Amino acid sequence: MSVMRILDQRFAAALNGLGATDSPPVIQLASRPEFGDFQMSGVMAAAKKLGLAPRELALQLVERVDLRGIAEHLQIAGPGFINISLSKDFLRERLEHALLTRNLGVEPQPAKRVMVEYASVNLAKEMHVGHLRGSIIGDALARINLFMGQDVILQSHVGDWGTQFGMLLAYMKEATDTCRQDYELRDLNRFYQQAKLRFDESEDFARRARDYVVRLQQGDAEVLRMWHTFVEVSLSHSLDIFQRLGLLLKQSDIRGESFYNDDLQPLVQALQDKGLLTESQGARVVMLAEYANKEGQEAAFIVQKQGGGFLYATTDLAAIRFRIRQLKLDRCLYVVDVRQSLHFQQLFLVARKAGFLPPQADFEHVSHGTIKGADGKPLKTKSGESVKLDALLTEAVERAEVLIAAKNNGLDPEARRHVARVVGIGALKYADLSRHRNTDYVFDWDAMLSFEGNTAPYLQYAYTRANRVLTRAGSVKEQGLQIIEPHEHSLAIELLRFEDVMLQVLRESLPHVLCAYLYGLATAFSRFYESCPVIADERVDGSRLKLCELTARTLKEGLGLLGIEVVDTM
Ligand code: ARG
Repeated sequence: MSVMRILDQRFAAALNGLGATDSPPVIQLASRPEFGDFQMSGVMAAAKKLGLAPRELALQLVERVDLRGIAEHLQIAGPGFINISLSKDFLRERLEHALLTRNLGVEPQPAKRVMVEYASVNLAKEMHVGHLRGSIIGDALARINLFMGQDVILQSHVGDWGTQFGMLLAYMKEATDTCRQDYELRDLNRFYQQAKLRFDESEDFARRARDYVVRLQQGDAEVLRMWHTFVEVSLSHSLDIFQRLGLLLKQSDIRGESFYNDDLQPLVQALQDKGLLTESQGARVVMLAEYANKEGQEAAFIVQKQGGGFLYATTDLAAIRFRIRQLKLDRCLYVVDVRQSLHFQQLFLVARKAGFLPPQADFEHVSHGTIKGADGKPLKTKSGESVKLDALLTEAVERAEVLIAAKNNGLDPEARRHVARVVGIGALKYADLSRHRNTDYVFDWDAMLSFEGNTAPYLQYAYTRANRVLTRAGSVKEQGLQIIEPHEHSLAIELLRFEDVMLQVLRESLPHVLCAYLYGLATAFSRFYESCPVIADERVDGSRLKLCELTARTLKEGLGLLGIEVVDTM
């Protein structure tokens, strides 16, 4: 069990014994080393409930709490905080144990069936910067869930159906007739733009486009064949980007909106049978009093348009049914832009009302903000277009290569290229993950590629330092850990915290918490490294070497959980 959970349980038991049954102990990291390692700050609230003076309750708790073998020193501070210093033996045993296990001593959590849905791109267009955050955050969350012992299903719910595809197919047909199809499909954006142009300029073309949508949804063989060709080209583009970004997603994890087509009619029927549907201006809707506007007008969640067409929302309802009935999910994380939050709130509400989503199923919109340009508006190219991921990833690696080359560290061109890829892509990902996912941030190449501060290159470099000590030390006689110096102690506490951090990140789906932790760990390591020699006069301090080893492994694992690689030299 994690350290903070142990402390929490022990204090909860003590509080219970004193009659404060429902007061949480609230265990936190000590804010300063002189306050010990951890702090219990739930005394004041509990004292209020019991009608006791906080310091009086604190005294009783210190008497009562059973921390034998865990803490050696408890101190009451301020209005009634309890400062906790861990016992040296306990600390040492925990770290020795972490070193001996493959997952750094982190206990797997009871396995739930968790889907992480991310990188749900729209196949009509090429991948652009708007897809970056969801892809990066979703992938980190997938890795984190796997590491914590969850039964993970990856999913990309790509947009491959609907009105836009009629337009694209109509254009594809024209291009086939003039033999330009293969050539034009290579540039998806241009293809889309041309199709849109034709759609807007020609009434005849627009009619054909609408006709294609109908034929597509009815399963017309010829139209389906064309659609398959288009989807394949676009998918292979996305898969290529996924691979360059190093995402876990594979082709088999992609289940497009089209997959649910046959279930849309039955689904609307099911809503009808449950008495949830209302007719509104020819459309079929679920009225939601929960989302009424100021005038008291209820919100209408449209599931079928006038004329019979289905929508994004209908497919999402069908996907929920499938995920519960067929995939038997306990939890589903929808990693999607925050601008869709109203859609998801209403979607989950309708799904609950309809009984598609049982009460115990935990379906969450894991929302994220936008990447901005220096002007504070969503990032665009100089000519005002959205930045393509193809170009962005290339630039990241090229910029990193210039920096690596300037370091002049004797890498051959091939090795340098590899390091540049690891650093460039890592910097891009880390810049994103280190921010709270719901805040927007300004894209800045120089800041993300800096070797100083809370960046990937800084952490990757810290890893190479810790790792180099290990290589230099070679094989050393086994020696027990000894935590003596203050900087050894601070590093040890940081290392010990990994499990608690992972538990929080798993619960709240907040990768930036892991980033902040890794940065703190690297900083603690750096202080330790400067003041506590590991190798002096050819003599290796085996205890300190162990701290180096656990630091290197934690940094590598932690970065790996964010989808970021490390190298031995950079
Ligand atoms: N394809 C959608 C878009 O580009 C995102 C899909 C998100 N996932 C979902 N289940 N609705 O906006």
